[in-house]
Amino acid sequence: MMKDTLILAIESSCDETAAAVVKNGRTVLSNVISSQIELHKLYGGVVPEIASRKHIEKINQVIQEALDDAGVTLDDLDAIGVTYGPGLVGALLVGVAEAKAIAYAKKLPLVGVHHIEGHVSANYIENPDLEPPFLCLIVSGGHTHLVVVKDYGEFEILGRTRDDAAGEAFDKVARAIGLGYPGGPKIDKLSNEGDPDAIPFPRAKVDDGPYDFSFSGLKSAVLNYLNKCHMTGKKVVEADVAASFQKAVTDVLVGNTVRAAKELNMDKLALAGGVASNQHLRQAMEEACRKENIRLYRPSPILCTDNAAMIGAAAYYEYKKGTRHGWDLNAIPNLRLGER
Ligand code: KG4
Ligand code: ZN
Repeated sequence: MMKDTLILAIESSCDETAAAVVKNGRTVLSNVISSQIELHKLYGGVVPEIASRKHIEKINQVIQEALDDAGVTLDDLDAIGVTYGPGLVGALLVGVAEAKAIAYAKKLPLVGVHHIEGHVSANYIENPDLEPPFLCLIVSGGHTHLVVVKDYGEFEILGRTRDDAAGEAFDKVARAIGLGYPGGPKIDKLSNEGDPDAIPFPRAKVDDGPYDFSFSGLKSAVLNYLNKCHMTGKKVVEADVAASFQKAVTDVLVGNTVRAAKELNMDKLALAGGVASNQHLRQAMEEACRKENIRLYRPSPILCTDNAAMIGAAAYYEYKKGTRHGWDLNAIPNLRLGER
């Protein structure tokens, strides 16, 4: 029998301080997330300086809790995995420095992980049968990518956003209709009370990129609609705006993704990233996949938004491939997918 591989994973790329212990890439022994949302809410978005300071305060406690929850100590670990990009540089540095310190003190291998590879790997946790190749739609606050996961950690990018990321569009529209930060979950909730067909917002097509996305036109259309209402004294029904916007985003995400699956003959599709926790997107993708006989994988919402369990899953497959980082590992705020 093969010996188990235990990885302590650390994630601090944005406003969540997170640590997890993951066994063999797929079994989560602990998953601790300390969110800073309440703090950043006051400013209407993440304040990088505050995020770094809070990570420094919390990280040791979060790691200790992850070890305790898993019932292990640092001596039981086989490697340390850590997000080293993309993200806020000051925030990433806290996790990277912490991971290096633990790895150095305990003489453990250090495995740097791409944050987006982490999001994709969240799918392995609850689906023991899922193995590459598969198609994956990655929709987070900073990224919107349609990729073929060719092998663990190997991606072919089919399409990407030309402007705003899907989550960014959610956050900006939420701010415009006065819902505050973070916008995605608030639009998701408010949409339940609105009519998704109330306002015909545009569904953008990118002419020279069949699988590319564009959301800035949609965002402008929402802002124009709100301005027009204010100028003409028409009452704004926020729930209708939220539901109609959400449907416009979802239509494009589902349309491009399912078309790619058909054109490439892929029968497995996974969702990843914070926006993948959106109820309407999950449902609409499920219906479209059922019609086309595509098997759909959707991580539980807690594994869609930032967490360290997904970093542990990705780190395991990198570790198995032999990926090791040195003591010069640095935070790379704009690390590209597929780069090491
Ligand atoms: O993956 P994530 O936690 O962090 C990044 O790597 O960016 O994604 C955060 C993004 C934010 O833009 C947030 O508004 C969005 O995901 N989000 C949602 C939902 N939950 C989080 N968007 C739509 N519906 C949701 N339920
Ligand atoms: Zn993320």
